[in-house]
Amino acid sequence: LHRLTVALDPPYDVVVGPGAVAELAPLVGGYRRVAVVTHPELERVLSPVVDTIRGIRDDALLVHFDQGESSKTLVTVEHLCRAFAAGGLLRGDAVVALGGGVVGDTAGFAAAVYHRGVAVVHVPTTVLAQVDAAIGGKTAVNVPEGKNLVGAFHQPEGVLADTSVLATLPDRELRCGLGEVAKYALMPEGAVVADLVERFGGRIHARDAAVLEEVVAACAGIKAGVVAQDPEERRGLRERLNLGHTLAHALETTSGHELAHGECVAIGLVFATELAHSLERVGPDALDRVEKLLSALDLPRRVPEGAAGADALLDVMRRDKKAKGGLTFVLPGRDGLERVDDPPARAIAHAFAAVGVRT
Ligand SMILES: NC(=O)c1ccc[n+]([C@@H]2O[C@H](COP(=O)([O-])OP(=O)(O)OC[C@H]3O[C@@H](n4cnc5c(N)ncnc54)[C@H](O)[C@@H]3O)[C@@H](O)[C@H]2O)c1
Repeated sequence: LHRLTVALDPPYDVVVGPGAVAELAPLVGGYRRVAVVTHPELERVLSPVVDTIRGIRDDALLVHFDQGESSKTLVTVEHLCRAFAAGGLLRGDAVVALGGGVVGDTAGFAAAVYHRGVAVVHVPTTVLAQVDAAIGGKTAVNVPEGKNLVGAFHQPEGVLADTSVLATLPDRELRCGLGEVAKYALMPEGAVVADLVERFGGRIHARDAAVLEEVVAACAGIKAGVVAQDPEERRGLRERLNLGHTLAHALETTSGHELAHGECVAIGLVFATELAHSLERVGPDALDRVEKLLSALDLPRRVPEGAAGADALLDVMRRDKKAKGGLTFVLPGRDGLERVDDPPARAIAHAFAAVGVRT
């Protein structure tokens, strides 16, 4: 097992590896009452993990909600809080979020507001949640006007990234997480991830347990480092984690979520690198690097036939909550990753063309 520490006050650990869920015992042992939030389907798929949790707390209250992004709502938060209350959860008790980012964000937000805040432990079960969503205390739900618009910072007591659960993860969900892995590999502190992908790319797809543990631990370590430096996104450091995400969000939205998040991030990474190249921030070697990396992860580099054109994408990108009206990108450069506002239209057109977007 890998054990990383998120150096906040108080600090907490991220434990990565097969069997990490057994580390729940010291984390929840001291609480009077514990509620485990998950999806009904996941409870079945992950029955060995649920059995381990029951072995640790046979009195745990199991609370369910439906899977899917459309369940990340205030209605679900109310359902969870009412189930906590009916199950006798009090201030000073604890919630365990068992699932992907949807469970983590929703149960995390419910824990942040129930009794004005109860303890939460994350047991992330997707690659995306293990390397990203479960670490850093961001919780949120969606409203019709926008994604993640209602939320809170609520740091967990601990994160248990049990990589044995990834064996049952659907391929599409694996690809979602690999987009984030590619992002970490391209960050200045991501050399270890890039090296792992280069050496063991194919074994990641084959769900090789040892390789997955190394990859998840390396990525989680980067996220933990960034979070510790800028826990509430006040210093502009956490926004570096949005590398590739400006175009990615627009592609996701305009494709009606036909394209998986990770595929959109992959295309967004090529776009950001091309944009940086066109602005003379990076040399052609950066373009080679991103191509090689994405091909090792078997992720797309260009938009599929029928994808939205430049105008439609720009419309969505301008509405991006980080953009404040203009266009904002996180781009590589000589001084690492930086925020770049409103680059010239010519450079944007070049980057669109490079990923196959109609201009
Ligand atoms: N809080 C943050 O910092 C942060 C960061 C990134 C993303 N997010 C959020 O995370 C969400 C996406 O999370 P996700 O990609 O994990 O999706 P998800 O939670 O919807 O999980 C994807 C699907 O996989 C299933 N699943 C999960 N684990 C499984 C397993 N081990 N075996 C089989 N099936 C499994 C789930 O039931 C679900 O149907 C989005 O809502 C996004 O906004 C939050």
